[in-house]
Amino acid sequence: MSSQQPSFASTIDTLREYVPEDLMHPLVGIVCGSGLNSLVSNLQSSVLVGYDILPGFGTSTVQGHRSSLAFGYLGSSTKRVPVVAMLGRFHPYEGHTMASVVYPIRVMAKLGIKRILITNASGALNPNLDIGTIVVIQDHLALPNMCGFNPLIGPQTDTSLPRFLPLSNAYSRDFRKLVFKAAHELQLPNDALAEGVYAWVSGPSYETPAEGRLLRLAGGDVVGMSTIPEVVAAREMDIEVVVLSLVTNKVVIPDKYDSVREEFEAELTGKMPNKKQEYVVSHEEVLQMGKQKAEVMKTLVEKIVELVPN
Ligand code: 6GU
Repeated sequence: MSSQQPSFASTIDTLREYVPEDLMHPLVGIVCGSGLNSLVSNLQSSVLVGYDILPGFGTSTVQGHRSSLAFGYLGSSTKRVPVVAMLGRFHPYEGHTMASVVYPIRVMAKLGIKRILITNASGALNPNLDIGTIVVIQDHLALPNMCGFNPLIGPQTDTSLPRFLPLSNAYSRDFRKLVFKAAHELQLPNDALAEGVYAWVSGPSYETPAEGRLLRLAGGDVVGMSTIPEVVAAREMDIEVVVLSLVTNKVVIPDKYDSVREEFEAELTGKMPNKKQEYVVSHEEVLQMGKQKAEVMKTLVEKIVELVPN
C-alpha cells in the first residue's frame, strides 16, 4: 500500500464507472466487522466494487473480511434507504497507514453520507457483559490516539475542518436512541443490547490479563482493535456515528490468573488441587460468535437504517 493518497476524485470517478447514479448518493454508511459481512445480504439492487480496483483502498488481509464496497438499498418497500457498506475494513496492525485506514470513510463522506453505522467484535472488560451481547458504544478510550497515533496528525488537507476536533459528542445521542428504538420495534430481548465504553488497542496481539484489568480500571467495558480511527475521521466531517460492538469473548475474568503457588503446594502435599483452567482467546472463536450473531446484527442494522430520518 502506497503511503501517497490518491485524490478523492480518482476514487469517485472509478466508482461512477460501476455504480448507477441513483446509488451514488447514499444516506448511511456501514462498516462491517469480523464475521458480519453477511450484514449486506439484504441489500437490494446491490453493486459491489472490489477494493483492489479502487484507488486509495488497500486489501484487507484479515480472515472473514471480504474487501469490497457495496452499494444498495436497505429497508422495506415503503422506505428504501440508499446505503454504502464496507465489507471488510483496514486496521493499522495490517501495516496500513492511518491515512489509508480512514480513506474509505472520507470517500463515503464525499459521497454524502450523513450517518455511519460501524460494527465490530470485541472482548468484554466489564464482567457483567455476557458473550453475544451487542454493546451500543457511548464513548471511547483510545490510548493510541492520546500518544501520537491519531488519524488527524499531520497537515490539514481541508482547512475548513476543525484542527482541534472535539470528541465529547462523538457518539450521537439521537442516533444511539434509534438503536434502542429499532431493538424495541424488533422486540429483541432486553439483555440483547447494553451500553458501554470501547477501549481501542492497536493489536495485533490480544491483551494480557493485566492489560485487560488496566483498561477495565480506566473505564473500558469492551476492548477491540478497530473502529476508533474511523470514528475520528467521520467526526472530523461531522458525520453522526453509531458503533455496535458484538462481545465475542471475555477478557477480565476474576480469579482466573492467580499465582500457581497454591496449586503447586496442594500438589506437593497430595491434596486435590483446585486446578485452574487456562483460557486463551482465538480469532476462530471471535469469528464463530460473529457468525452466530450475524442474523441479529443484520436485522438490527436494517431496522436502524429504516428509522433514520431523511
Ligand atoms: Cl479479547 N481483544 C481485542 N483487542 N480485540 C478483540 C477481542 C479481544 N475480542 C474480539 N476482538
